[in-house]
Amino acid sequence: MSFPSRVRIAEMSPRDGLQNEPGPVIATDLKIGLIERLADCGLTHIEAASFVSPRWVPQMGDAAEVMAGIHRKPGVRYTALTPNLKGFENALAAGVDEVAVFGAASETFSQKNINCSIAESLHRFAPVMDAAKQHNIPVRGYVSTVLGCPYEGDIAPEQVAKVVQALHDMGCYEISLGDTIGVGTPLKAKRMLEAVAHHVPISKLAAHFHDTYGQALANLYAVLEEGIAVIDASVSGLGGCPYAKGASGNVATEDVVYLLEGLGIGNGVDLQKLVATGEWISEQLRRKNGSKVGQAIAV
Ligand code: HMG
Ligand code: MG
Repeated sequence: MSFPSRVRIAEMSPRDGLQNEPGPVIATDLKIGLIERLADCGLTHIEAASFVSPRWVPQMGDAAEVMAGIHRKPGVRYTALTPNLKGFENALAAGVDEVAVFGAASETFSQKNINCSIAESLHRFAPVMDAAKQHNIPVRGYVSTVLGCPYEGDIAPEQVAKVVQALHDMGCYEISLGDTIGVGTPLKAKRMLEAVAHHVPISKLAAHFHDTYGQALANLYAVLEEGIAVIDASVSGLGGCPYAKGASGNVATEDVVYLLEGLGIGNGVDLQKLVATGEWISEQLRRKNGSKVGQAIAV
């Protein structure tokens, strides 16, 4: 049991936060404004876009325009999802610093999300890995449904470990463990992580917890104790998953920063600026601010 001395926060709001926003497609300028504000808060890893089929995820249809429009801050990594080689080529042309492939621990979720089996998805990722290596682009991996699936219910930790190991063996520098529908609880999160850590070192893993059942911070505390030092979060808790009905956003970045500050864990983010950003984007989207810390500090 040892907390890390520093945590890197991977900011998900421009991608995971906005991909599921109902209503008309969000203006490209608003997405660009959000990304620039997040960089100004001190976040150094920002998932800016997603190069997926615009028929599947219309909100991400302007990924190339978003990437072209942002004023890049030195030291910030602007990343994007790329489910296949076509996505990778588009992301490369748009100048992303890093890409991510995304699979699942549940067969049914894999079919619903990316229209293929787990084995087929790994097959599709192989050319992405090769092309990324050729162009010196780091590849992150995601595994969804690590603590439960909206279609299959409980998922065995060993099944999660198998998919994580496959992504690691393919060359992903880091694999993010997605509690896609936010059903996990701390002991479950710990047990899943222990099973995965038998195959892949914890230093290569990240926690990507959605907050549907309000357990995300508790789950994060549990995995921080195990040594997790990379946390995915979304300002004001924006988001959901288009293929996981009812799932709410990632844990709010403001709440994570406040927790880390309380634990004396460095993270490089300016909480006041982050709260202002959470208030701003909530107003722009006419949404209630989903961060408790944001609500408390902003009043
Ligand atoms: P498919 O239909 O099986 O693919 O979709 P396909 O290769 O047969 O292509 C069908 C059409 O899509 C073709 O166009 C392709 O050109 C086009 P058509 O000829 O019919 O006009 N196409 C593309 N267009 C743009 N960019 C591309 C691309 N690929 C094909 N990259 C596919 C397979 C993966 C493309 C599709 O299922 C898809 O886009 N799914 C999106 C899934 C998604 O974005 N989900 C949300 C993100 S994952 C997530 O939120 C979880 C995470 O946060 C972790 C967690 O919380 O657990 C990461
Ligand atoms: Mg997610």
